[in-house]
Amino acid sequence: MTTDSCTYVIFGATGNLAKLKLIPGFYHLELENKLPDDTRIIAVGRRPWDKQTWTAEVKRFLIEKSGQGLDETIFAKFSARLEYHRGNLDEAECYQALATNVNNQPQFSKNMAFYLAISPGDFSTVIENLSLVALLSEEYGWRRVIIEKPIGYDLESAKALQKRLERHLTEEQIYRIDHYLGKGMVQNVLVFRFANVMLEPLWNRNYIDHIQITHAEDIGIGGRGEYYDGAGAMRDMLQSHLLQLLTLVAMEPPVSMDAEGLRDEKVKVLKSIRPIPKSAVHAHAFRAQYSKGTVKGEKVGGYLDEANIPGDSTTETYAALKVLIDNWRWRGVPFYLRTGKRLAAGQSSISICFRHPPLQFFRDTPVDCMNPNWVLLGIQPEECIRMEMTVKEPGLEMRTRTTSLDASFRNADERQVDAYEDLLLDVMKGDRSLFLRFDEVEYAWRIVDPILQYWATERDYIATYPAGSWGPTESQRLFEKEGQFWRNSL
Ligand code: BG6
Repeated sequence: MTTDSCTYVIFGATGNLAKLKLIPGFYHLELENKLPDDTRIIAVGRRPWDKQTWTAEVKRFLIEKSGQGLDETIFAKFSARLEYHRGNLDEAECYQALATNVNNQPQFSKNMAFYLAISPGDFSTVIENLSLVALLSEEYGWRRVIIEKPIGYDLESAKALQKRLERHLTEEQIYRIDHYLGKGMVQNVLVFRFANVMLEPLWNRNYIDHIQITHAEDIGIGGRGEYYDGAGAMRDMLQSHLLQLLTLVAMEPPVSMDAEGLRDEKVKVLKSIRPIPKSAVHAHAFRAQYSKGTVKGEKVGGYLDEANIPGDSTTETYAALKVLIDNWRWRGVPFYLRTGKRLAAGQSSISICFRHPPLQFFRDTPVDCMNPNWVLLGIQPEECIRMEMTVKEPGLEMRTRTTSLDASFRNADERQVDAYEDLLLDVMKGDRSLFLRFDEVEYAWRIVDPILQYWATERDYIATYPAGSWGPTESQRLFEKEGQFWRNSL
């Protein structure tokens, strides 16, 4: 696919997402020489800045993020692409002036991407205004709008948002980001499954006992108290990123790797997930909140001590969910998903636990021969593929032990690409395979909505776990069998 030149407009350009992910993403694309010559990046912000101040600001935070100086030649090339447009999102003049600028100045490509790095509550305002000044019309070039999760607050609000978007945009123009899909190792799940024949015959209910998907963070909620307290871990991580990972692990081979082929198969997985009625929420879902504790040797406060969190908040910072997929391949194989802030380590992984062989010949040997095989896919911080197998210990006795087959696939000199770099480029290529289609969002909400509704009725109590732990041991109750446990190490 070719990368078209484009005018990227970032709404919310002075916010954290732009500062930490988008602008550094563009800069890395510049370093890799991936930006077509006439690509321009217009930052829209309320602050009374001009191009010069904005460029200095960009330079400052790029240095701050990378912890080193910048290559002056590359930065000069990059800064020539930067523009600053001062305006208030609520005011029509902001959009009129933007339209006049880009329509009348030849340096701006007529292909335009609008990145809404703003609060979801403002999505409709921006889109309606862009539409009013004809900036969404594709008469002279393509027009694409990128929105970030959370896409809605629940099923109903997600549908309402979709209705509002549909008035001004076609589905082909909407790029719903789930930045997890831009992570190298997440894409590797597809390659691992579908470019190798060794595992696919085992990838089903006959051989797999259960699957765990974990996103653990040792950090807290940072300065995002206001947003986070209204969202909680289930909405913030599980409804989006973790269910996306589940679809990649569980999907059937697609007809092709193009956007529709992939997304059709992902939706089929979401549709096959057994609904969780309110009466089963206790058996399928668990939530908790961190209290004060010690993370990596440092004493930290609890969630209720964080800025902008009401003292009686029962918002969950830890959520775990057991999911059953009622289809031919997975019937009876539980998928356990969990995520949490202020846990013992920052780590995302997929752990696949295989069944025991039909006969346990080595049952009487004294060592850990009862260990099942595991396939471990490390997403971050370490990207890895590992298999745990049982082997005979060297020596005269018939003892067994577990050994790990480690497929390191990244050479030391190979750079880890940030998810956003990949996704920003895909927008310019018009490749929507790593973006969500609305039915994916809708079915993901259908899964978690009953749980959220049930939790909303339990607002007077929430279990707690000390910061720096692996979460409350009560979450173990989700496991169906003895011998199943949360796997914390890779
Ligand atoms: C975001 C969530 O979508 O993903 C954050 O809002 C979370 O709460 C973040 O910390 C995790 O992403 P990453 O790429 O840092 O693992």
